[in-house]
Amino acid sequence: MKICVLPGDGIGPEITAEAVRVLMALDMKFEMEEALLGGCAVDAAGSPYPEATQKLAQAADAVLLGAVGGPQWDNNPRELRPERGLLGIRKQLGLFANLRPAILYPELANASTLKPEVVAGLDILIVRELTGDIYFGQPRGIEMRDVDGKHQRFGFNTMHYTESEIRRIVRVAFDAARKRNKRVCSVDKMNVLECTQLWRDVATEVADEYADVELSHMLVDNAAMQLVKNPKQFDVIVTGNMFGDILSDEASMLTGSIGMLPSASLDENNKGLYEPSHGSAPDIAGKGVANPLATILSAAMMLRYTFNREEAAQRIETAVKKVLSQGFRTGDIFEPGMKKVGTKEMGDAVLAAL
Ligand code: IPM
Ligand code: MG
Repeated sequence: MKICVLPGDGIGPEITAEAVRVLMALDMKFEMEEALLGGCAVDAAGSPYPEATQKLAQAADAVLLGAVGGPQWDNNPRELRPERGLLGIRKQLGLFANLRPAILYPELANASTLKPEVVAGLDILIVRELTGDIYFGQPRGIEMRDVDGKHQRFGFNTMHYTESEIRRIVRVAFDAARKRNKRVCSVDKMNVLECTQLWRDVATEVADEYADVELSHMLVDNAAMQLVKNPKQFDVIVTGNMFGDILSDEASMLTGSIGMLPSASLDENNKGLYEPSHGSAPDIAGKGVANPLATILSAAMMLRYTFNREEAAQRIETAVKKVLSQGFRTGDIFEPGMKKVGTKEMGDAVLAAL
């Protein structure tokens, strides 16, 4: 069981350290190797996804990732931006299925900016396609063109999906729904974009294979509204790369803090990359105050999806619930009366609860 650990930038090293401690405490004989991804890799090796990292990631069964990015790399040319490393590893490893569960822990019912009755009991799963769409579509660029009688800068990207790309991600959503409340909502923009008309057509075809799961469709603007109006109407949401990026950040806020949201990015064979849904939080990096729970919960997803160890995954999830009920809170989820802790103390609490 080989795990490639990519701490990345910002708070990445602090939060992955806690998830690694939790995994090691399980006594499951993991082999772990660390490598560079993101801005730190640009600085040390001149590439956001250096060859040494590629080799380790390809040889591993699973990848545990912290986060990438930071202001010091914001003005880099695009190919030397930390995000390129993340997009590169997703594409190279074929990690097309991104699972982002948004669960509200009862202990955090007041952490959301939404009314408690709107979010209480929330448990939705966003299934985001991760290796296609406008993120990767060619042609793309910024160039000089003669348009509207003017020689001017012209920016362009291309949104595209093949029916096979759509079919495989929609199937992931249906399979997941089968183990949950058996409802899939497919999100598109078919009233404007042909590419997403195809998305809707293929989703409808896939639904024929799953008589026991109910399919509905929603336009993305309405979905964004419904997510804050009545989020509990959803069970599984399936959508493309771009819409999924946006809707998953929105969904994270229903749970109070993006610091609680894990994610799994899987290939056809359940090899996976596991990372918190949040970013590298440069403003609090190195201060020991970041919330490690999203990364620890991502490690639980690793046990579930890549290593098929459901009971070990639940042990971690139960431990996280326990520390929340014991009142341990990092700054992002702090409320008066609770015990304010830093990154490492939160890791200690989870270890103790395990
Ligand atoms: C995410 C992030 C990434 C994305 C960025 C960092 C490239 O926002 O994982 O949601 O857009 O996919
Ligand atoms: Mg995002």
